[in-house]
Amino acid sequence: MVGSVPKVGETIELGIVGMDREARGVGRIGGDGGMAVFVPWALPGERVAVKVEAVRPRFCLGSMASILRRSPDRVEPACPVYGRCGGCDALHMRSEALDDAKEGFVREALRRIAGVGSDWRGFGPIIRCGSAEGSRNKTVYPVCGAAGGGLVKGYYGRSSHSVAVNAGCPILHGAIEPLCRFMLARLSEAGLTPYDEATGKGALRKIVVRVGVNTREALVGIVLNGAGHLRRLPDGGRLLSRANGFLAGHSGLSDHEVVGFVANVNEGDTNVIFGDKDVVLDGRGYYIESLNGVRYKVSLRSFFQVNSAQAERLYQEAVGMAELGGWESVADICCGVGAVALQSARFAGKVVGVEVSSAAVADAKENAAMNGVGNVRFVRAKAEEAYAGLSGEGFDVAFIDPPRKGLDAGLIGSICERPPKRIVYISCDPATLARDVAAFRGFGYALRHVRPVDMFPGTTHVETVASLYYLG
Ligand SMILES: C[S@@+](CC[C@H](N)C(=O)[O-])C[C@H]1O[C@@H](n2cnc3c(N)ncnc32)[C@H](O)[C@@H]1O
Repeated sequence: MVGSVPKVGETIELGIVGMDREARGVGRIGGDGGMAVFVPWALPGERVAVKVEAVRPRFCLGSMASILRRSPDRVEPACPVYGRCGGCDALHMRSEALDDAKEGFVREALRRIAGVGSDWRGFGPIIRCGSAEGSRNKTVYPVCGAAGGGLVKGYYGRSSHSVAVNAGCPILHGAIEPLCRFMLARLSEAGLTPYDEATGKGALRKIVVRVGVNTREALVGIVLNGAGHLRRLPDGGRLLSRANGFLAGHSGLSDHEVVGFVANVNEGDTNVIFGDKDVVLDGRGYYIESLNGVRYKVSLRSFFQVNSAQAERLYQEAVGMAELGGWESVADICCGVGAVALQSARFAGKVVGVEVSSAAVADAKENAAMNGVGNVRFVRAKAEEAYAGLSGEGFDVAFIDPPRKGLDAGLIGSICERPPKRIVYISCDPATLARDVAAFRGFGYALRHVRPVDMFPGTTHVETVASLYYLG
């Protein structure tokens, strides 16, 4: 290996040549081929002084002591708790440069794991989002007690479960923070105590706000540590009118409307956010969002893309890659509330959605009815258990949009027993996407197009749409 191995506690100078998926700058001791050093907050192109924190057989971990040469891509993060809060990891990087890095993550995963060469021509440029400010339509905040009494909220710190209390998060839609403040004040007046993970005691675990950016509807949720706390909640029948009166007083928000308050009960000693029981306190248990002209009912717990503007672009890209001619039989695997199924139904013969969450399937069915779409059907099941039984429908096209862990190997096998001509795969993890692309290639598919989408500005997370064609 080039260069000598440093000692823990030593300070070294390092040129940063790359960035990893955890937003750490990567440098090599002694240059190319040298031992890698991972340095949080350092950016590619910078020269930094690094304190060596840990030495492993093949790499070192360091902390940045000072910046000796600053990257032009370094920007001042517009967030007072940045660095302490575990929510965003790349707000200190210019958004265009961050997008380029995200594109690089997808290319690199496909090269390393699926053997897709750097000269492969199917790679489209990332669909940029631009500024992170106001881009997220949802928050789930853990709650804790304020020093002087009352309730406050913030995201967990990096790799920790202590809350980095914030007065506001700049990447959230503008209606979310006022509604959090409103709700926390009501809950505090009602005497609810914050949940304490260490003791399992306390009433209030989380506060949730979701916004239909295009409909201006908002849904407010709370997660309680036990049904007994429901009795102590503020007067449910007046929550909507009070909240909407409160919003009306905020400039730019008077055309927004809170449509429902929901309490979820989670008594588990677990990091899982929600329990199984929802109680509507006032109004409805869902809000409506509209994407590309399709209206979606979304319940408190159902998955829905957190960046509405980029979700519209993502779905346009996915439906475009499917090249539907109006007659195809289509599967939507991991369909959530029917987002892709309903975007694609108008261009297909019929669509069958499969989804494990019963709340999401209930939403999906109502969404089909609400949009007057008759050529879709939704099945509540684990895809890996149900797909083989459904494949007799002879799917021409399959949309697949799994969680981060990607697809079960058995499900890939079932899909390839009666292979659809085209697969459009939406992924939030380049590594599992690349692994599954490699598996599909092994069953006779060719990768046709790949397009990253920046759904999560200010972070290193990246969404990707990919299409595969069956060659036989
Ligand atoms: C990334 S979301 C995509 C949802 C939807 N396609 C959309 O764009 O909104 C993944 C979905 O897969 C569902 N899911 C997770 N594991 C599943 C499984 N084994 N079988 C079917 N659905 C599953 C989740 O409940 C979630 O709704």
